[in-house]
Amino acid sequence: MAKPKTQFVCQNCGTVHNRWAGKCDGCGEWNTIVEEDPMGGIGGGPGKTPKKGRPVALTTLSGETEEAPRVQTGISELDRVTGGGFVRGSAVLVGGDPGIGKSTLLMQAAAALSRRGHRIIYVSGEEAVAQVRLRAQRLGAASTDVLLAAETNVEDILATVAEGKRPDLVIIDSIQTLWSDVVDSAPGTVTQVRTGVQAMIRFAKQTGAAMVLVGHVTKEGQIAGPRVVEHMVDAVLYFEGDRGHHYRILRTVKNRFGPTDEIGVFEMSDKGLREVLNPSELFLGERNAKAPGAAVFAGMEGTRPVLVEVQALVAPTSLGTPRRAVVGWDSARLSMILAVLEAHCGVKLGQHDVYLNIAGGYRISEPAADVAVAAALVSSLAGVALPAERVYFGEVSLSGAVRPVSQTAQRLKEAEKLGFSSAMLPASSAEIPKGGRKGWSEIEGLPDLVVDIAGSARKLGKAPEED
Ligand code: TYD
Ligand code: MG
Repeated sequence: MAKPKTQFVCQNCGTVHNRWAGKCDGCGEWNTIVEEDPMGGIGGGPGKTPKKGRPVALTTLSGETEEAPRVQTGISELDRVTGGGFVRGSAVLVGGDPGIGKSTLLMQAAAALSRRGHRIIYVSGEEAVAQVRLRAQRLGAASTDVLLAAETNVEDILATVAEGKRPDLVIIDSIQTLWSDVVDSAPGTVTQVRTGVQAMIRFAKQTGAAMVLVGHVTKEGQIAGPRVVEHMVDAVLYFEGDRGHHYRILRTVKNRFGPTDEIGVFEMSDKGLREVLNPSELFLGERNAKAPGAAVFAGMEGTRPVLVEVQALVAPTSLGTPRRAVVGWDSARLSMILAVLEAHCGVKLGQHDVYLNIAGGYRISEPAADVAVAAALVSSLAGVALPAERVYFGEVSLSGAVRPVSQTAQRLKEAEKLGFSSAMLPASSAEIPKGGRKGWSEIEGLPDLVVDIAGSARKLGKAPEED
């Protein structure tokens, strides 16, 4: 039989090439093509002479599972993001910029779980035992039973965690430091990272221990190493935040066992990360309600309402092409709102520079922010502050109509909780009967700066107190 040819596989996208090349045709990345043996090894296809299979025992879908499938940390912001706790036998990848607080978060999670009687192993590949201990002291976690090891060799780690009672959770900090004897390439290369991660995932699936893998993020914002790692794990969480601000957001990017649009909000203090149970208060904390160009957006992050201030500055320009700068929102969407305001509302911004900022370094991805952005822009252009007690939400379409968005009732409830008494929202919001939801009634004739976009927005205010 012919000797199987070796193949050259791109470590970034998985494209198979016949010969080595500096650049992959598939994804355009440089230096990602590695020679692999198709007969075996990681990423190899099925061999030419398949071994004789061994029948595995078939089972049914029903049947007793002896323990809770999830391990909950009791840190509610973290449990929400994972969808109710770490799932046993699953692998979770936690990505984030260096220094954002991944090790801090996981050390706190480890301590919390350990206090609940779980067996937790923390494997640090980046810091020495003394450094990890120092951090644990600072976090008040030093007295817990978290088991610690400073190790980077995959085989040694596996032998360590497999010894004794099965751990409930294993934390590997970080996958970039893992290296295996099986692979020739240097530690930190994609092949090493991939092999290490695969071995860890296999351990999790075989033993039922939950596995948390820490991964660094490259300048482009991707988890360093092959994208394949993201496909291999069950959940991917990103820990992000602005260096200029204290708060950090844990975001689900992928989750096989829960929703993917949840966020957890934390604040970095001198004693580690503190949960922020009401993010709206944080984002609206430094608000100056009397300044023109600021509108409060009633947004949603997953199941949770988040109120945040949208700030706009519109200033006459001397440049031929006016400047448009956006922080925390999509710049293409801003252009769209500007175009709609010009075309349908007679708001001329062609001779003005436009700057848009979301307060607190927060990022909005919801289209529901359109109306808030439009309100902030018009307010800044007119130099008149918007009513301080009003929130804004609704999606603006190119025709100038304001489209309904989901979870209207929840947005209004949160606004009410924070002391707001009126709202501008899509007229056709199904969840609100005409006349308003409890305590909110339609208010007419209030001077408002937003030219009621094509008449499709609606104002709601609290019903006046009855004597
Ligand atoms: P770390 O968890 O080491 O980040 P990562 O693992 O993502 O690289 O966090 C490092 C930063 O957090 C560092 O700049 C110091 C800061 N920090 C605090 O402000 N308070 C604390 O209690 C701790 C432990 C860290
Ligand atoms: Mg770290």
